[in-house]
Amino acid sequence: MTLPISREQSIELLKKYNKEEDKNDWNHFLESESIMQELAKKLNENEEYWGMLGLLHDVDWGITKQNTVEHLTKAPEILKEAGFDEEFINNIVSHGCGFECVGLKDKKREKKIEFALAASETLTGLIHAYAIMRGRKISDMELSGLKKKFKDKAFAASCDREIIKEAENLGITLDEFLQIGIDGVKNIKDKVGLN
Ligand SMILES: [Fe+2]
Repeated sequence: MTLPISREQSIELLKKYNKEEDKNDWNHFLESESIMQELAKKLNENEEYWGMLGLLHDVDWGITKQNTVEHLTKAPEILKEAGFDEEFINNIVSHGCGFECVGLKDKKREKKIEFALAASETLTGLIHAYAIMRGRKISDMELSGLKKKFKDKAFAASCDREIIKEAENLGITLDEFLQIGIDGVKNIKDKVGLN
């Protein structure tokens, strides 16, 4: 589980393919990283590696979002060129399983790390939207409130609740995972425009 580039270099790699002014995208990258780190800590996994997966999972988003079926088709080449191995790349691509991206429609996630990434990156949307609704405040966000928003399917409707529930494959409850998500985003609140 060695990483070929530092976190700083990963940020540079992201900047190459994603505009710095696309704040929502950057918030999503950073929140995915932080939730993955928090989750790794809880599960005694490699925080640095899991964090890097979260940070880079949408590396090709900036160049594919105009035509989303292309999302994740450019990432393997970008990551390979940066020195990442096949396992890391496969882990990244697995968060697109079930979506229309080339070759992923009928693929299913199998590994713990794959469930972790998909669930974490999907949870960011729900937590961020809820924080914005609360006046951008996350410091006092409670699990009970987030649970209500989880159950309200009309709220942040694009956050697929079934994917968030994939975290249960990690041997933790949904409640535990939602709390990990709150803690993860709280850790970096200043960097993602929350307080
Ligand atoms: Fe994502």
